[in-house]
Amino acid sequence: MKRLLTGLQPSGELTLGSLIGGIRQSVAFQEEYDSFIFVPDLHAITVPQDPTLLRERIKKNVALYLACGIDPAKNTIYLQSQNLYHTNLSWILECNTYMGEASRMTQFKDKSKKQQNVAVGLFTYPILMAADILLYDADFVPVGIDQKQHVELARDIAIRFNHKYEDIFTVPAPLIPEIGAKIMNLQDPTRKMSKSDTDTKGIIFLLDSEEVIRKKIMAAVTDSENKVYYDIEKKPGISNLLTIYSALSHMKINEVEEKYKEYNYGTLKKEVADLVVSTLLAIQKKYQEFMAGKVVENILKEGLLKTNKIAKEKYDAVLEKIGLGRV
Ligand code: AMP
Ligand code: TRP
Repeated sequence: MKRLLTGLQPSGELTLGSLIGGIRQSVAFQEEYDSFIFVPDLHAITVPQDPTLLRERIKKNVALYLACGIDPAKNTIYLQSQNLYHTNLSWILECNTYMGEASRMTQFKDKSKKQQNVAVGLFTYPILMAADILLYDADFVPVGIDQKQHVELARDIAIRFNHKYEDIFTVPAPLIPEIGAKIMNLQDPTRKMSKSDTDTKGIIFLLDSEEVIRKKIMAAVTDSENKVYYDIEKKPGISNLLTIYSALSHMKINEVEEKYKEYNYGTLKKEVADLVVSTLLAIQKKYQEFMAGKVVENILKEGLLKTNKIAKEKYDAVLEKIGLGRV
């Protein structure tokens, strides 16, 4: 069975974008792959975080994964910071990554522009991500389009390493979802719906109340044409609503377009809101159940035991190849 690995950062509350672009893909793939899903909490601290909120979010995130259909019987679920091999391997990979290739990462360029004091960790973040992936010999890494470049870097590092020290890493490939690849901000549909945005009006969080969800969707920015069709350039707002509907209903974009072509924007928004509300309320009900018990703690404990064993083996093999460690 091929191995698949992905992580969702606890850097903010999970959004409809994280669900459609991230978690839902993992739910679909768990049937076919040996799936590893983890909370990359070390990645979260590349930008400032409040310690209490961060800790809370880690538990909430795992409970949300489970509520969204991640099955602990089919997935290895763990917390990055508990497994010391991730950062150890990351250092070794840093020493095998060129400044030139690391400097090409567009996410760093974007994120560093928004910070006053840019942490070195924000720059080396893709290399830690490569360690997350290579440590477990993942074949596939399901990610949104914005993370594709990072998976490609992991791929390049693996190929170089294999060439330099004999085959040791599985060369991973990104898996990009076909529809709903990018859910946009409802207030500015030319920007991604991002959980790290400070203005939350255009973002639907998985734990938003029904009232808030409806309000945000009804207030979504559209255009003045009042004709429903998909055109990402001319009609980013309407296209985004059609994309959300398509992703949650499992209908094709052109089927959704056909269904709503005679509707006005208000009625379309109401139908999108109904679908988002029913999807999210079902998730929230399960989430409350997972938060109440010890399920999350137990799953992470089990995940740590299992991944520590796998990671240790790989790490020891790497040390051996490069001439480090016990003599
Ligand atoms: P993030 O929530 O930005 O940490 O990203 C977690 C995963 O979900 C990544 O694979 C992202 O590419 C994906 N993702 C996050 N936001 C969106 C979005 N608005 N549309 C599509 N995918 C997203
Ligand atoms: N950087 C990813 C994000 O921001 C999260 C992540 C960290 C990840 N390590 C990973 C995703 C390894 C896939 C594989 O979404």
